[in-house]
Amino acid sequence: MDQKFADRRAFIGGLGAAALAMPVLLGAPRAEAAAPPFVHGVASGDPLAQRVILWTRVTVSGDANPRVQWEMALDAAFTRSVRSGLVRTSATRDFTVKVDVDGLSPDTVYHYRFTYNGTRSPVGRTRTLPVVAREAIRLAVFSCSNYPAGYFHAYAQAARMADLHAAVHLGDFIYEYGRGGYASDDAAAMGREVLPPHECVSLSDYRIRHAQYRTDPGLQALMASVPMIAVWDDHEVCNNTYRTGAANHTAGVEGDYVTRRDAALKAYHEWLPVRTPDTGDLRRIYRSFDFADVLSLHMLETRLLARTEQLSAADFVGPDGINAAALYAAANAPDRALLGGTQLAWLQEQMAGSRATWQVLGQQVLMGHMDIPAAIGLGQISVGGYEALTRKATDNPGDLTRAERYILDQPVVPWSLDAWSGYGAEREAVFAAARRLDRNLVVLAGDTHNAWANDLVDQSGQPIGVEFATPGVSSPGMEASRRTDDPDQLARWMVGNVPHLRYAETRRRGFMVVSATREACQSTWYFVDTVKSDRYRIEPGPTWQTLPGTDQRRLLPLA
Ligand SMILES: [Fe+2]
Repeated sequence: MDQKFADRRAFIGGLGAAALAMPVLLGAPRAEAAAPPFVHGVASGDPLAQRVILWTRVTVSGDANPRVQWEMALDAAFTRSVRSGLVRTSATRDFTVKVDVDGLSPDTVYHYRFTYNGTRSPVGRTRTLPVVAREAIRLAVFSCSNYPAGYFHAYAQAARMADLHAAVHLGDFIYEYGRGGYASDDAAAMGREVLPPHECVSLSDYRIRHAQYRTDPGLQALMASVPMIAVWDDHEVCNNTYRTGAANHTAGVEGDYVTRRDAALKAYHEWLPVRTPDTGDLRRIYRSFDFADVLSLHMLETRLLARTEQLSAADFVGPDGINAAALYAAANAPDRALLGGTQLAWLQEQMAGSRATWQVLGQQVLMGHMDIPAAIGLGQISVGGYEALTRKATDNPGDLTRAERYILDQPVVPWSLDAWSGYGAEREAVFAAARRLDRNLVVLAGDTHNAWANDLVDQSGQPIGVEFATPGVSSPGMEASRRTDDPDQLARWMVGNVPHLRYAETRRRGFMVVSATREACQSTWYFVDTVKSDRYRIEPGPTWQTLPGTDQRRLLPLA
């Protein structure tokens, strides 16, 4: 296994971003899946200048306390070994192994492997953070990887990029649903039906689900090629979580919410290579990573620590349509929390103390305003239909029917109340902090399964920064949720009509690569033509960039 894996890395190591510019038909890396006892592969994560987490899991029988050796070296042949040790694992942590290796050198590529009972794991590759930047910082950014929805080609593709500093996962690393649940229509045909077959509720359920995802060869290849920095969104527990509950939790049937949440979080901390900052409160995952004086990445928690329950637009609909004034007043109420006061104060301290040009927020939900006409948002009309009505209102206003006039008279409302637009006061607090500190703010978002780029503007119209949003790895996007719209027409219409939205792609899955120097920060999107077949083409998307400085905090198209 070792040799085969090393050969593959050597082959793909030569493929940089330039090689990906050409659409080629690629296959999922099926053959490279790891073998017993390391069937879930190896991973690294949470790199610092002198530390990194190494991870694996052993699948053994008849050994309640497996002893696992780990080794770290400067070369893949392990002739220049730098650190090694022994660690025990057990059923109490689902036989996962996590080692926080310290005493390392900054900006250095290391290779690592594990040994159990004479059998070696695949070789992983990781990298510590730079203290002095010698090149652009490059981060591959992911969200919404849904096993039954499709193949993880985005992961496999990023694993082929040799020059990444880290992979950043913004959440929905797993989904909780049972067979037949969300986005599972093609799962049986693809051989990707979930385990366990029912919805995850217990600790055992979540462990089995994580274990299944981690058999995916694309995910294993990514995890073995680059350190991952991850936060959860909602589906690592269940849909639309907030501090005291979730849309997809039924207390009478599925037990106590806090018990379920804590089970999900225990499994998450066991299975992800994250440095658990507080074992007394597994929700406290927010933490920062400094990439020299170029980029500070602040990973935020927006679901479990503080989030107030989501508003519902339906609660603001009356006989005369939606009451937008009441909706905005409720969404912007000062007591609505997403980060909460403690995390917000921490974020302000981190931004104040950072010497980096770019303050990057790694977080889950869209921060851009994304206001759209209520009739479209509520699904009363397609974008094409709405466009036809607006043309009619211009050309032949006298011909508009009463129903058509009603549609056009509807005000704009936030596209999603689960996103920052449902928590406007805290969004303004983040913006105010960035402005007061005169920081260049770049927000990364996931959650929507579609690709976006927004100019971030505060309530007084002042430019604050930019937002790059990554498409899902495999969860379906607006091409599935709005079947009455042509996805390309929908994206075009949104860019033309949603204030501050500069780029939208609502049809394809993929990921984005954010790269930064002291002079510029840019995002390039990469899409795959399908997640439903194990053969796929990579289709490079556009690049948007922003420049540092008070007067430059906006998006510029680059390619
Ligand atoms: Fe998602």
